Amino acid sequence: MHTKIIKIDSADIDNKSMTEAAELIRAGELVAFPTETVYGLGADALNPGASRRIYEAKGRPSDNPLIVHIAKFQDLEAIAREVPRQAKLLADAFWPGPLTMIVWKNDSVPRETTGGMDTVAVRMPNHPVALGLIAASGCLIAAPSANTSGRPSPTEAAHVAADMDGRIPMILDGGAVGIGIESTIIDLTEEVPMVLRPGYITTEMLSVVLGQEVQLDPGIIAADSERKPKAPGMKYRHYAPRADLTLVEGAESEVIREINRRVCAARRAGQKTGVIATEETKGRYLADCVVSIGARHDEDAIARQLYRILREFDDTDVDVIYSESFAASGVGQAIMNRLLKAAGHRVLTV
Ligand code: TXA
Ligand code: MG
Repeated sequence: MHTKIIKIDSADIDNKSMTEAAELIRAGELVAFPTETVYGLGADALNPGASRRIYEAKGRPSDNPLIVHIAKFQDLEAIAREVPRQAKLLADAFWPGPLTMIVWKNDSVPRETTGGMDTVAVRMPNHPVALGLIAASGCLIAAPSANTSGRPSPTEAAHVAADMDGRIPMILDGGAVGIGIESTIIDLTEEVPMVLRPGYITTEMLSVVLGQEVQLDPGIIAADSERKPKAPGMKYRHYAPRADLTLVEGAESEVIREINRRVCAARRAGQKTGVIATEETKGRYLADCVVSIGARHDEDAIARQLYRILREFDDTDVDVIYSESFAASGVGQAIMNRLLKAAGHRVLTV
């Protein structure tokens, strides 16, 4: 299959391209498109055959449900068995935006879309191309991140093309995304709302808007996976770079010394080494390939660059990567969640 890549200006969306993309969606085909978090791989959410195509193109396990993207709040009412009180509060505060809500689904949503579950994940993305595609197609759009299963989520159209070229008919290239990590997922089907995946909207922000306690799924923090995460997708070892990644945490000077010690040992053993550093520390490492993920205080920049950096390491012949670690509060919680998964929870404390 030939994959057409169409550049699209978010500030001035070309109608002809949008119509072409919308026709593909209506015909049950796949279109990759930008959102504010990461690129999505979209299909008609209410068409079981279209959803199946998503799983095929990604090589995704069929028990891993998709997020349904909507353009107006009424779309949630159309697919939910009931709309919880909290959904309205959260939508008013955060939609369109990087928040996914899990609610009980009604019969209009096929189980192919929800990986066999009775609940459905719903999000209103804050991106003109994504919202434009939903509106132009007249469909609700099921979209996981547009990567091959097990690779970092794409933050640029080129990442989508690297994984999906020849597998899907169209990629809408709206440039690099703004946030860079996937949406926060909150489960509203429980007594106490529970965050199943941390993201740009933090647990504290959710709790303030809801005026109640919000839990964090214990399964996503546990290193030993004794407790199964509630979002099926969180149990897989995502975002795994080809090289072995280890996080090193501790006081800055200790971290730098320990990483350099290990880098030297690895090099003596004939291995190529990489380091994920910060603007403040990048000049102090001895590795073959040192990349800065951003200034340490700038969590937004770190989130935006994380997946690109992991992908770029895959294009080098680096065998081992050491990364600095970050405070796990605020957006840092999401950053550390993704980094820990990429590292298979390998952490050295110095
Ligand atoms: O930012 C995002 O959310 C991006 C963009 C494209 O919107 N999408 C995304 O989708 O990250 P995906 O498929 O890569 O991740 C969806 C996650 C998976 O971990 C999945 O298991 C979980 O959401 N999920 C979906 N439906 C669920 C449900 N009904 N119950 C529990 N977890 C669910
Ligand atoms: Mg994904």
